[in-house]
Amino acid sequence: MQVNVEKKVCLLGDWGVGKTSLIRRFVYNAYDDRYLSTLGVKVSKKSIVIKDFKKKPFYKVNLTLMIWDLVGQRGFQYLQTSAFKGTNAAFVVCDLSRTETIENMEWWVNSLFKVSNHIPLIFLANKVDLTENRIPQQLNGKIENIVNKYNGQFFSTSAKTGINVESAFQEIGKLLTTKFFK
Ligand code: GTP
Repeated sequence: MQVNVEKKVCLLGDWGVGKTSLIRRFVYNAYDDRYLSTLGVKVSKKSIVIKDFKKKPFYKVNLTLMIWDLVGQRGFQYLQTSAFKGTNAAFVVCDLSRTETIENMEWWVNSLFKVSNHIPLIFLANKVDLTENRIPQQLNGKIENIVNKYNGQFFSTSAKTGINVESAFQEIGKLLTTKFFK
């Protein structure tokens, strides 16, 4: 048995944390060192398959993700909150080399929850390649607090090396399709 489903996913987080790069890695398996701030909103599309081998008969969801990349600069709040509307899940992204971007994740979650229900959240600590592929001890607690407070999931990622990017998108896919596997 199989079904086709389309869902909207937004990436939120401060400017320069790597939202565009994470999408580029996931959709095109590519990376670019140059920084070009997203102008407004860009939507990309990618389909993935979510399977449950334990189900009998074997069950499969063809999930099309509409992935919304939003400008991270402050001052575009009207645009950001209107883009959040109707989103089914979100990635909240920070940059492990800039502590303030970790603290600001909560601001992003609060902006999202002003216009959305309590949708699934996955927190991404990006640029882990800059911190020897692990979360620095002094940042671990800060990240854990936010993730636990909002009952989210968490991955450390690198759009540059690709580490955990596919896994994070697969996980959001699972969260978006759980009702089909009950
Ligand atoms: P805005 O559109 O301004 O909100 O930025 P953004 O969050 O989309 O960031 P973007 O993907 O444009 O990345 C900003 C800069 O960080 C670029 O120079 C990227 O090449 C770099 N970058 C993104 N991800 C990584 C990563 O995982 N590791 C490293 N080392 N650099 C990264």
